[in-house]
Amino acid sequence: MTGFRMKALFFSVFLHHLGASGAVYKRWIPNTNFENTSNWDRGHVPCATDVILFGNNEDVSVFVQSSHFLTEMYMPLNGELIMGPGAGFAAFDGSYNPGCETASKIYFTGAENFQWYDPTLWQAATSMEDLDQGKYIFFMDEERVPCQYDDVIFQPQASFRVNITSSEKMIHLRSISIMGQKFTSDDALVEYMQSSTAKLQFHGEGTFQLTNTRCPEKSGCECGNAADHDRICGALLQKYGNQCPVATCKDPLKPVGHCCDICGAIISLEYSAGFDIELYRNRILHTFLSLPKNAGVQMAISKVHKPKTFLGIIPRSSVPFIQIVLMDNGTGSQTGTHAEQVAKDIMSDIAEHGESFSIVADSLQAATGSHWSGQGAGSSPGAIIVGVVVGLLVILLLLGIVLILYRKGPLRSLPSVPFSSLWNQKEELDLAGETVNKGFDNPIFDAPLSPAVLAAVRSVDETQEEMASKNNELYFINPLYDETELNV
Ligand SMILES: *[C@@H]1O[C@H](CO)[C@@H](O)[C@H](O)[C@H]1NC(C)=O
Ligand SMILES: *[C@@H]1O[C@H](CO)[C@@H](O)[C@H](O)[C@H]1NC(C)=O
Ligand SMILES: *[C@@H]1O[C@H](CO)[C@@H](O)[C@H](O)[C@H]1NC(C)=O
Repeated sequence: MTGFRMKALFFSVFLHHLGASGAVYKRWIPNTNFENTSNWDRGHVPCATDVILFGNNEDVSVFVQSSHFLTEMYMPLNGELIMGPGAGFAAFDGSYNPGCETASKIYFTGAENFQWYDPTLWQAATSMEDLDQGKYIFFMDEERVPCQYDDVIFQPQASFRVNITSSEKMIHLRSISIMGQKFTSDDALVEYMQSSTAKLQFHGEGTFQLTNTRCPEKSGCECGNAADHDRICGALLQKYGNQCPVATCKDPLKPVGHCCDICGAIISLEYSAGFDIELYRNRILHTFLSLPKNAGVQMAISKVHKPKTFLGIIPRSSVPFIQIVLMDNGTGSQTGTHAEQVAKDIMSDIAEHGESFSIVADSLQAATGSHWSGQGAGSSPGAIIVGVVVGLLVILLLLGIVLILYRKGPLRSLPSVPFSSLWNQKEELDLAGETVNKGFDNPIFDAPLSPAVLAAVRSVDETQEEMASKNNELYFINPLYDETELNV
């Protein structure tokens, strides 16, 4: 019996893990409920003696959770009240209501123009339990709004009104739950959208398309909100008085998909076929971010496309990469320093284990308050790029030597060089120097050619052209792995 239970438990944990891979639930925060005090201009729920006024043209659906005494209520021309179990209105019987001695007009103000693309109106978590426990995920602004493989939740027991105007007139989602009813197919949703309630809940130029599938790629999927970037940032910045808060570091960073510059660190990763974004996210969470000393550091990891090259030209088919954004709660000269430290730890980890995660190249940019106050050069992006370029030259030279020696030597099993991990940090220069001195003693050259490396090399060849147009993800094509050479 116990054995069976154990097996069942193991199986369900396993299934849970499979099912949860890449799952993100996004929940809409505002509601138009009758009992929500912030929906009334007086900041309280109407008293029995009050005259309740809905605007004539206020198209709104209002969920009522309990019973209320009522003197007078003016309904909108096009609106509805949804009565929850036990809810209702009864004529005011004149009995004494503490706090409601004077009758006044009270206006419903909850039907404001709330935008679907407002990132501040969503909560995100990897499971429904996490949503309920307030364990939210940190995202770049574009991804705070539901992405194409997300499950969207409009809470049960809550009415709402949302403007779904979208740049592409189409909002792709995995599923959508509306007041406890879950839709996973377009047919069912289209039917629902024709109901009068749906027309009060959703308005504007947009429709939903449901995929009912999770992201099919192990390396992750893009969110798909790039076309609405300006809409998202417009809604966000409205809350900051239409300008970004000043980032208190020198040369603040601009993550892809984010509205404002940040202080902290960005790691950009190029990957090969075997890369699994969930596996790697867990690696970072468990190895670094779950350490008590790193409690103040937040991470967002996602697959993104560079929107523009450094010349401002939009490439026809830019290559996706993995962006890891790290920010901390430090202030003043401490802003971003903790995030930068964690980023450096991650870079060292990649240098050591990156290959086993199918990471083929990486780069680190950091901006901290200490640079702002002019202390210490540290590793500015410029310094890193210069370091990498010098490292590249050294390695090119080294590989040239190796190639010549190899050509002269007898035929043997093809070597596998984890070239990507050799040059990804300026610190790696030392390693390169060491390799030169050791010559052929370096055991990595004797390792057999692994399929992962072959795959990496192919993907490098395919993307070679696009890579050439990028400035900060420096890439290096190893001449040893030219496919024509392999057949010698
Ligand atoms: C009341 O509505 C506001 C805005 O719509 C929302 O932020 C808040 O969470 C709601 N409060 C409750 C208790 O539902
Ligand atoms: C919905 O939002 C769009 C902008 O996103 C705006 O142009 C439109 O007027 C809004 N609709 C309503 C009814 O407020
Ligand atoms: C940052 O957050 C951590 C964990 O919540 C906390 O221990 C630390 O005191 C915070 N630091 C600052 C400067 O707020």
